[in-house]
Amino acid sequence: MSLDPKLRQSLSLPAVCAPMFLVSGPDLVREACKAGVIGALPRQNARSFEEFAGWLRTIHADLREHAARAPGPIGSLAVNLSAKTPEGEIAAHLDLCVEQGVDIVITVGGSPKLIVQQAHDRGIKVFHDITSIPFAERAIAAGVDGLICIGAGGGGLKPGSGNCPCCAEPGCWARAASAAANAKTATSRRCIKISSSWPGYSG
Ligand SMILES: Cc1cc2nc3c(=O)[nH]c(=O)nc-3n(C[C@H](O)[C@H](O)[C@H](O)COP(=O)(O)O)c2cc1C
Repeated sequence: MSLDPKLRQSLSLPAVCAPMFLVSGPDLVREACKAGVIGALPRQNARSFEEFAGWLRTIHADLREHAARAPGPIGSLAVNLSAKTPEGEIAAHLDLCVEQGVDIVITVGGSPKLIVQQAHDRGIKVFHDITSIPFAERAIAAGVDGLICIGAGGGGLKPGSGNCPCCAEPGCWARAASAAANAKTATSRRCIKISSSWPGYSG
């Protein structure tokens, strides 16, 4: 997957100021965009839809004012939306995104399928947080435009019941981590390679 030329041109660095629960707010996101990286505002940090809409309006207005004063790249604005957002609320959130110049939705948790369809209808790209190969496969099947590959367990994402993050086989990673040198199967060897951060997050 190569980066969309429109996104590429808006960046001074190919980086995302990652959305962080209880941390990322309008000030951080606005300054990230002004610095030429993608700024991501988590929906879940606002108590209500109205508060979230107010944040986006402020950021959008500030960025327009900044663009008029200081020529140079302004990073794309992204919104972090739970893939478990109730179906009846998705359209209102995406309409707000279109209105306030949001280019990207970063989905987290669950299947992004419903959001992908509605976002693409509105010209918005969807990147999905993934912590395992099965989650990546599900997101690709849903038609996402990009994958955000997070070390399993990072940012409070639950790694699950102890199944391998790569092949989802119970016990695979545990066997691999505890006896890497003895890994017998090709799958285990592949999983050791891919998920080297997993044991560090397993607690
Ligand atoms: C404190 C903290 C909170 C996070 N909250 C969220 C979140 O609300 N939504 C989300 O999609 N990712 C969340 N993440 C994941 C980050 O957005 C990012 O994808 C992840 O930390 C990987 O980037 P890093 O290697 O630079 O930390 C969080 C990460 C941290 C450290």
